[in-house]
Formats: sequence, C-alpha cells, structure tokens
Amino acid sequence: MKIIRHVTDLREFLEKSTNVACVPTMGNIHAGHLSLVDLAKKNSDFVVTTIFVNRLQFNQAGDFTDYPRTLEEDFKKLEKANNDIVFCPEENDIYPQKQQYFIDPPKIAKKLEGRFRPDHFRGVCTVVMKLFNIVQPQVAVFGKKDYQQLAIIKGLVKDFALPIRILSGETVRAQSGLALSSRNVRLNQSELKEAPRLRSAMQIIYDAIKSGDRNFVAMEYAAGELLARHGWKVDYVVVRTQVGLLRPSEKDKNFVILGAATLGKTRLIDDLEVSSP
Ligand code: PAJ
Repeated sequence: MKIIRHVTDLREFLEKSTNVACVPTMGNIHAGHLSLVDLAKKNSDFVVTTIFVNRLQFNQAGDFTDYPRTLEEDFKKLEKANNDIVFCPEENDIYPQKQQYFIDPPKIAKKLEGRFRPDHFRGVCTVVMKLFNIVQPQVAVFGKKDYQQLAIIKGLVKDFALPIRILSGETVRAQSGLALSSRNVRLNQSELKEAPRLRSAMQIIYDAIKSGDRNFVAMEYAAGELLARHGWKVDYVVVRTQVGLLRPSEKDKNFVILGAATLGKTRLIDDLEVSSP
C-alpha cells in the first residue's frame, strides 16, 4: 500500500490509472470504513482512501481539534484491507490559502443535520468536490451511516454532471447494534451501554411501520420521549421519505428513520430504512 501526502505526488502516481475508486474519510479507521474499501475494491481496479480532517465542516472548534487522529493505526488497518493508496494530505495541501470558493448546497442540506450544524454540508460538499478533482475517480463510495450526506453527494454529482458513480455502503454495527463511528471513542463505559438505545428507539418505529402504522408524528414523539427519559438530548428522531428526505405523504411507502441525539458530550447519529407493507 502506498502512502501519499501531497497532491502533486498523487497526480503523478495516478496519471495512467483508469477505473479508480475513491473512499473519502476523516480517518480513525474502523470496520465501517473498511467495508467501504471492500465495496470500492469490488467495483474498481484501484482504491484511493483519503484521510483528511476537514476543518470547513466542523461547527465547533473543539470538535475539530478533539477529532481522533490515528494515522499510523489507520495505515495498518487499510493495508490489511488491501487498500491501494492512502492519500493523507496536510491542511496546507488542501487549503494552501483560505478557501475562497464554496459549494452552496440546496434546501436538503438546511434541514436535519443542517439545522443543528449550520454550514456543515457546505464544508462537506466543498472538500468532497476538491477531493474528487484531486483523485479524479470513476467511482466513489459513501456510507448510509451518514444518510443525508450520501443524498447530498449524489445530488452534487448529478447537478455538476461529474463523471463519477456513487456507491453506497450499508452501516456496520457493533454487536450491541450501535453504529460504528469515530466519535464512539469518546463514550465512557456507562455511555457505551446506553448508546445502542438510539438504534432501539428507531427499531420500535421500524416495527410499527412494518405492522402498518402510519402515525409517524406519534412514533417520532414516543422515540424522542424514550431517549430523553434515559438522559439523551435529542435533536431529532423523524421519519422521512428515502428520496428527498421529505415528510411522508399518503402515497409514500419507502422511508428512512433518521435520528441525532447527544449522550453526555457525544453527539451520535443513525438511520434505518424501512418500507411500509
Ligand atoms: P467519516 O465520518 O470519516 O466517514 C467516512 C465514510 O465512512 C462516510 O461515507 C461515512 O458514511 C462512512 N461510515 C462511517 N461510519 C460507518 C459505518 N458504521 N458503517 C459504514 N460506513 C460508515 O463522512 C465523512 O468522514 C466526511 O464528511 C467526508 C465525506 C470524508 C468529508 O470530509
């Protein structure tokens, strides 16, 4: 596996490559990321995993500085997963000067995560566009774990006519049901025990929808209450359409349950797709 730190070196290395897949990450690699590398491998000849903690997408300076940075361990895990290149640029490589031009994403980026993290997706879209331009992949892989991000990236690629096929990977979970996330390292022992409740609250909604219940607002409310009773600060637990992340109307059948809530100091997000009978 090749480790490349500078844009010019990557360009040179990839000059003659075709059928390249890109897996953008912020590092602290876990089995969720590795499953995306695996999917990328199956759909390309060459996988470039990028590791870059993107300052532009963080709302709180503390969250950015505290973000776990574990490059050496990340390299080992990626090497074992048969990843071909790790591109891990310095901030100076991606932002040699203060970024002047930004991608301004549409309405879908202003709700849900966008309401609680203003400009988050502006930062995500801007860096992803930049990474796409640097790597010039034919395929890029994103996780359903960040469902709204995935939808926004698909929209970005379509709207700018980028010649990149976006693939989506299923969420990898711990045995407890907790979705793997780089932020989980911040949970203490008792929080780790409590954390799977976000998923179980969604599972209750899932079961209700599967049994034909369509009273979404009541389900959302009950899930929020359940989490609040166990000490969570809930940002949202909602049912939305899979396409467009809109409030469901009577004819909709394919939904996604989206949730975001903070336990102690750690904000977790998760989602669950479900279709009504
Ligand atoms: P990061 O949080 O490191 O996630 C990188 C990719 O891994 C994303 O596509 C995310 O959805 C996916 N992922 C995270 N946890 C997962 C899990 N448990 N199972 C499967 N996939 C999982 O998302 C970002 O970085 C950044 O916003 C980025 C796109 C790199 C732009 O900076």
